[in-house]
Amino acid sequence: VTHRIVIGNNKGGSGKTATAVNLAAALAEASKSVLVVDLDPQANATRRLGVAGGTGVSISEALFASTPGTSGAAADAVREVGWKDEIYRQWIDVIPARFDLENRISEAASVGAIGRLRRALQGVDQGYDFTLIDCPPSLGHLTQMAMAGAEACLATVEPEYDSVEGGLRYREFLTTNATDLTNPDLYLLGVIIGRVRTQVSAHAFQIAGMRDSFGPDLVWEPTVPERAVIKDAADASMPLASLGSSRARAVSEIFSELADTMIKRFS
Ligand SMILES: Nc1ncnc2c1ncn2[C@@H]1O[C@H](COP(=O)(O)OP(=O)(O)O)[C@@H](O)[C@H]1O
Ligand SMILES: [Mg+2]
Repeated sequence: VTHRIVIGNNKGGSGKTATAVNLAAALAEASKSVLVVDLDPQANATRRLGVAGGTGVSISEALFASTPGTSGAAADAVREVGWKDEIYRQWIDVIPARFDLENRISEAASVGAIGRLRRALQGVDQGYDFTLIDCPPSLGHLTQMAMAGAEACLATVEPEYDSVEGGLRYREFLTTNATDLTNPDLYLLGVIIGRVRTQVSAHAFQIAGMRDSFGPDLVWEPTVPERAVIKDAADASMPLASLGSSRARAVSEIFSELADTMIKRFS
């Protein structure tokens, strides 16, 4: 059975997609199979994983078809990652998104809408070690649907006031509403701090504050520094490793350690 993990924060630019994509790469390098579900109409994860989301079945159609009483509607939407390296092709699959995923949001009030992602993935993702659900910067219907169908949540937070506040609101939201989201056992698995600038003292202050407010066990180590290679790889739709530089290797190593933490939490 897979571990289905929501990656969220209602703050945009907090590194949700960077975490989903680079954690998937690191898990693959550790010989773990991963399904990345792009649940953001911006479809950044889809593009960064080298998948052409423009054609074929996407998460949008899968959710539309996932009416009460159905299961596995996402089966047709699963694609192999678009990165060319064999190791990633072997271990990473993607369910792509397109901008028209927006159309699912207005259907939130239809019967059973909250269960659409859970039903759509039933029997589809159980063979993967991990299913990572990349969420939009919102606590609205799409994120709620992800929370309804997942085992646990990860928050990504920048060491900036508004991002930390977004992370705290995310935790508050999921703990307060788990039962109403039809998923009483849902919990916060961890907080990944990204875009850290070590020379900025305000960042050190925010990181210390996060260890206090989330608790030291929840804040995962190491933190992810602000590095141009992360953006370069993302913009080029390439894995960090194929940049080949020592800076890229250093950042890959950080995501490997985070992947190890993830693996250990479930073993
Ligand atoms: N640690 C980092 N260092 C440098 N750039 C980063 C880092 N994390 C994310 N980025 C870049 O910042 C932008 C926003 O990050 P992204 O992962 O898309 O955030 P979100 O999905 O939360 O909106 C993207 O252009 C991404 O490539
Ligand atoms: Mg994103």
